[in-house]
Amino acid sequence: MLFQTPPYTLIDLSRKNDGSQDRAAFAKDVAAGLSQSPKRLSSRYFYDANGSRLFQQIMALPEYYLTRAEFSVIQRHRSAMVSAFAAAGFFHLVDLGAGDAMKTKLLLEELANQKKNFDYVPMDISGAAMRELGDDLQQTYPELHVQAVVAEYITGLKWLKQHLTERKVVLFLGSNLGNFEREEGMDFVRQIRQHLQPGDLFLLGVDLAKDPETILAAYNDPGGVTAAFNLNLLSRINRELGGNFDLEAFSHFALYDPQLGVMKSYLVSRREQEVYMEATGARYAFAAWEAIHTENSHKYTLQQAAEMGNKAGFKLVTSYLDENSGFADMLFEVV
Ligand SMILES: C[S@@+](CC[C@H](N)C(=O)[O-])C[C@H]1O[C@@H](n2cnc3c(N)ncnc32)[C@H](O)[C@@H]1O
Repeated sequence: MLFQTPPYTLIDLSRKNDGSQDRAAFAKDVAAGLSQSPKRLSSRYFYDANGSRLFQQIMALPEYYLTRAEFSVIQRHRSAMVSAFAAAGFFHLVDLGAGDAMKTKLLLEELANQKKNFDYVPMDISGAAMRELGDDLQQTYPELHVQAVVAEYITGLKWLKQHLTERKVVLFLGSNLGNFEREEGMDFVRQIRQHLQPGDLFLLGVDLAKDPETILAAYNDPGGVTAAFNLNLLSRINRELGGNFDLEAFSHFALYDPQLGVMKSYLVSRREQEVYMEATGARYAFAAWEAIHTENSHKYTLQQAAEMGNKAGFKLVTSYLDENSGFADMLFEVV
């Protein structure tokens, strides 16, 4: 599906435009996750319109250092980044899981100021996010050629391998890699490598291991915005799959394991209960204090992340750091 709204193009690779297959896939994942032990729901479903709005509030929280830290990385190093990206002429700037591209916009501004020759290819599973970003960029940079792709990561990577012929610079910012389990993260970096060519670049945003208290506070704010974001997953199931979750009967719970370097978020059932979902016609039983795992955020050391890149077939070019050395945007090149 291709919608031409010059000068930006929206390419919708989500399975069907009426959303029916997406709803079926969502129902299947939820049913599988609530039927297994221990229970789990995928963090990929956080970002409906309400979830995206709540995530924007999270990014503005004093405790949520991640966005500000990466913003600062890019602000400090954008001139060097842009020189590295554009060293060999025209390139496609691909932004995996672009969201509102708040930080990427710093790079776009620098690229425009330096009159570099590139086009911009944001990709995201959220159609709403891609439409908003496309409209926004059309206003700010009417000359910029934008192809906004609505797709799950792997579908998007396949598309770019087939359709983008020039050199690519792939951004994977926002510590999104942290949402994968360590092995899955390694596999994902390998997948990215397999969809690129020698000379292509990959900029990976990594939240580095740091004081556990700082990390825990970022995912457990006292005002309850993170809790609302996590609970929105249940509201979304109610809205889209005809669920009857009682939101009062579940609580957000977050913990950080400093040995494994992983932040984990849960929704805990406050009592024994059953939840019905129209989409599957099934009931799901919860014991009192039974938890649903909803999100992982793995933290890495610079060395661990560099090793991951090397194993996947990349060479580390350089690591750009914020002033506290708490967040890194690591630039890799395909060898
Ligand atoms: C934490 S936001 C990061 C946004 C932006 N890159 C940044 O650094 O601020 C994560 C984004 O990834 C998207 N996303 C999550 N899982 C995805 C998946 N499996 N495929 C494609 N996009 C995904 C979400 O819709 C969301 O916009």
